[in-house]
Amino acid sequence: MVKICCIGAGYVGGPTMAVIALKCPSIEVVVVDISASRIAAWNSDQLPIYEPGLDDVVKLCRGKNLFFSTNVEAHVAEADIIFVSVNTPTKTRGLGAGKAADLTYWESAARMIADVSRSDKIVVEKSTVPVKTAEAIEKILTHNSKGVNYQILSNPEFLAEGTAIQDLFRPDRVLIGGRETPEGRRAVQTLKDVYAHWVPEDRILTTNLWSAELSKLAANAFLAQRISSVNAISALCEATGANVPRWPSPWGRTRGSGPSS
Ligand SMILES: NC(=O)c1ccc[n+]([C@@H]2O[C@H](COP(=O)([O-])OP(=O)(O)OC[C@H]3O[C@@H](n4cnc5c(N)ncnc54)[C@H](O)[C@@H]3O)[C@@H](O)[C@H]2O)c1
Repeated sequence: MVKICCIGAGYVGGPTMAVIALKCPSIEVVVVDISASRIAAWNSDQLPIYEPGLDDVVKLCRGKNLFFSTNVEAHVAEADIIFVSVNTPTKTRGLGAGKAADLTYWESAARMIADVSRSDKIVVEKSTVPVKTAEAIEKILTHNSKGVNYQILSNPEFLAEGTAIQDLFRPDRVLIGGRETPEGRRAVQTLKDVYAHWVPEDRILTTNLWSAELSKLAANAFLAQRISSVNAISALCEATGANVPRWPSPWGRTRGSGPSS
C-alpha cells in the first residue's frame, strides 16, 4: 500500500489529503501537525476549518485510510510520498520584510525529514514558495541523506477558501514539476498516478520544477492585479454613480476569483 504523509494540517493540507483519501481508497494518508489542538479538532466532530462538503469527506475516510496525528516523525519515516504543506507567511523582519516568504517552517520540516528518513522519499512542495526553494530543500535533504534518495516535486495548490472541496474534486489543472532526469520523471509519474484516480489526464500538467514553482506565483500575481483593477473600477463607480452588475460567467463556474495564497 502506498503511504502518503502530509506535514501541516491546515487549510490546504487537511482538505487536500481528505480528498486524496476519498478518491484513492488503496492509499493510506496521514496528516501530521505539531499543533496538538489542530489535530484534536481534525479527529473530532468540530473540524478546525469550515468548507462546504468537507465534513462528509472526512467522515467517509477518517479511521479507514485517513488519519490525523501529532506523531510527526514516525509517520514521515514510514511514508513513500511526503507532502509539505506548512505555512509560509510573509517575513515581518530582516531582509525582505513585508515582501519575501518566511521559509522557517519549511526548512525545519526539511531538516526533520532528513533526520528520520531511512527509505527513499518523494517530497512534494505543496506550500507556496519562492522559485528555487526545491533546490535549497534538496541541499538540506541530500546533505544529511545517509544513503536515502530524495526526489523533490513542486505541486502547488490553486484551491480557493470557500470552494476548496469543489476545487479539489474538479480542478482546472493539477500542476506537477520535477527534475528532468529518469528518477525525476518516475517521481512525477508516481504523483500523477495518485491524481489520475479522479482528475482527467489532460488536466494534469507536468513541467520542470522551476516552471511549477513560478506558475503558482504568477497565478497569485494575476489574481492580485484583477482584484486591484476591480477595486479601481469600484472607486470610479462610487464617484460617478455607475453600477457594475454581477453577470453570470460565460465560462460557467468562475474560478480563481476567491482568495488564495
Ligand atoms: N489557504 C489557502 O487558500 C492556500 C491556497 C493555496 C496555497 N496556500 C499555501 O499553502 C501553504 C499552507 O497554507 P495553509 O493555509 O494550509 O496554512 P495553515 O497555517 O492553515 O496551516 C499550516 C500548518 O502547518 C503546521 N506546521 C508548521 N510547521 C510544521 C512542522 N515543522 N511540522 C508539522 N506541522 C507544521 C502548522 O501548525 C499549521 O497547522 C502556504 O504556503 C500557503 O501559502 C494556501
